[in-house]
Parts: sequence; structure tokens; C-alpha cells
Amino acid sequence: MRELVTQVAARTLPPALFARLRQIVFRLKLAEPRRIWRGVFQHVRDVPARGPGYADDAHRAAVIREVERLVGPGSRPRPTLDDDSGALLSLLCAVVSAQRSGPIRVLDFGGGPGVGYAQVQASLCAPHQIEYHVVELASVCEDGRRLFGHDPQIQFHASIPSRLSSVDIVHAAGSLEAIEDWQGLLRALCRLDPRWVLLTGVCCGDFETFASALMLIKGSAIPMWLLNGRAIVDVMAECGYALQLRTLLERVHVQDNFPPSLRLPRGHPSAMLFGKSVD
Ligand SMILES: C[S@@+](CC[C@H](N)C(=O)[O-])C[C@H]1O[C@@H](n2cnc3c(N)ncnc32)[C@H](O)[C@@H]1O
Repeated sequence: MRELVTQVAARTLPPALFARLRQIVFRLKLAEPRRIWRGVFQHVRDVPARGPGYADDAHRAAVIREVERLVGPGSRPRPTLDDDSGALLSLLCAVVSAQRSGPIRVLDFGGGPGVGYAQVQASLCAPHQIEYHVVELASVCEDGRRLFGHDPQIQFHASIPSRLSSVDIVHAAGSLEAIEDWQGLLRALCRLDPRWVLLTGVCCGDFETFASALMLIKGSAIPMWLLNGRAIVDVMAECGYALQLRTLLERVHVQDNFPPSLRLPRGHPSAMLFGKSVD
């Protein structure tokens, strides 16, 4: 019930008012803040993993409902985008699309059953001008194909497709940190030679990279990285990409169970946009 009230409030109230109300609720001890990470480890392999993680049935069903809310029959005339990550991706797609006569090509690593695609479709004025590729876990790919089987604009892949040319945008929202070899993933994505790489929901800060258990999905502890921001920029620079934009996203994570030096900047994840270096 509390979860439902929170979700409704998060969707209906202006974000600043919602954040303020949350603070008051926690200060008055009417509810406990949700701490989504447990423990500090050197490496993701040290984290005691538990449960099915992102393949969990209930979690997948909740994400499917979110996609349906954005593009299902009840979504007209225009649904709200839940987060600023979706707005950033949509804006980037709109700008790249406006500079192009044909469709643009997007590869979304860890894009769920079409979460980013649904956000873009829900907001772009020329939604047919996009070819969207999602790389996901096999079970999530199946969800996506069930949801979008009729739609030739989106395809799901269990690994990064090797023969994909002219990719305009690589997008990864909250997925880089889930990958043990996150540097190798960035390098593989850059080998697709995209014009832009948009990383959103990035859990990074000035601290040295460490690992923790993500407790967001009931019954699961998912090993993930919390990354040094500079290290991401360095890998991207090696691959010929320069940081064009870094902003803190609106969401705030409660991290009072971590030492202050290991917390995200004021609790916020980041968005980072990299462009191909021109010289
Ligand atoms: C935090 S969720 C983000 C989902 C989506 N991008 C969004 O913004 O809502 C991380 C996603 O990464 C996916 N993921 C985890 N490991 C993966 C892997 N090895 N290959 C592809 N996707 C993976 C998960 O299934 C999950 O959908």
C-alpha cells in the first residue's frame, strides 16, 4: 500500500514537492528511507549475489506494465516520462533525427523490454524515424518481442550485434554498472562507432570504484559497481570520445549506510553524453 501511495505521489506531484515531502516523512519517522545498496566490496565478484536479479518474474512484469503505460492504448494523448533519463534520450534522438533525412539508428544496452524505446516513441514527433536495437538478457528480450512483435522498428538481441553499421546513438541507462567488465563493455559499444554515447542513471562519483549489492528487487541481491566518474571518462577518451555533458539526475538515493566519501554527489546518479572527438 505504501509502495502504491509513493508511486502515485511520484507520478502526480511536481518532483521538487515530492522530494520535499519525502524528506518531511522521513524526518517525522513516518516511514523509513529505502536504502537500495548493502555493503561495500572491492569487486563485484566479492558481493554475495542472491536470487534471479533482473530476470525475476515480478520485476519483469512491473517493467512491462511501465512500458505499456507509455505506449499502450491508455497512453494517449501523451504520457508523462517518469524520469529525466528518458527526456534526455528523446531530446538527443529528436536533434539527431532533425539533421538526417532517413531513420536514425539507436542501440540501447540493457534497455529492458523497450523502456527507452517507449519513452522515445511517447515523445518524438516523428517516431517512425527511428530504428532501435536493444541488447538484453534472454528472458527480457522475450518480453520485448512479446510487447513489440508487431513493430518492425525495434529488435532485441542477446548480445551486441556484430554487423550493425551507422549507429547514431548508443544508450545505456543504469546498465553499465551491472556488467563485471564495464570497461570492456564501453570499448565494445564504441567499436560500433556511434556518433553519440549517452549513459544515464550512472552511479558514479569522485570515490574509487567499488562494488555493492543492489537490493532493489525483492528476493535478489545484485552485484553492481559504483564507479569512479573520471575512470569512465578515461575509457571513453581512449576510444576517441569526449565528454560533452554531465548532469546530475533528479532522483536521489538514500546512502546513509555508506561512509560519506563513498556516496553519490548529494545522492544523485549522473547522465553523461559523449561525442566522437573530431580531431
Ligand atoms: C537498472 S536496469 C535499467 C533498465 C532500463 N535501461 C531502464 O532505464 O529502465 C538494468 C538493465 O540491465 C540489464 N542487464 C543486466 N545485465 C545485462 C547483460 N549482461 N546484458 C544485457 N543487459 C543486461 C538488466 O536486465 C536490466 O534491464
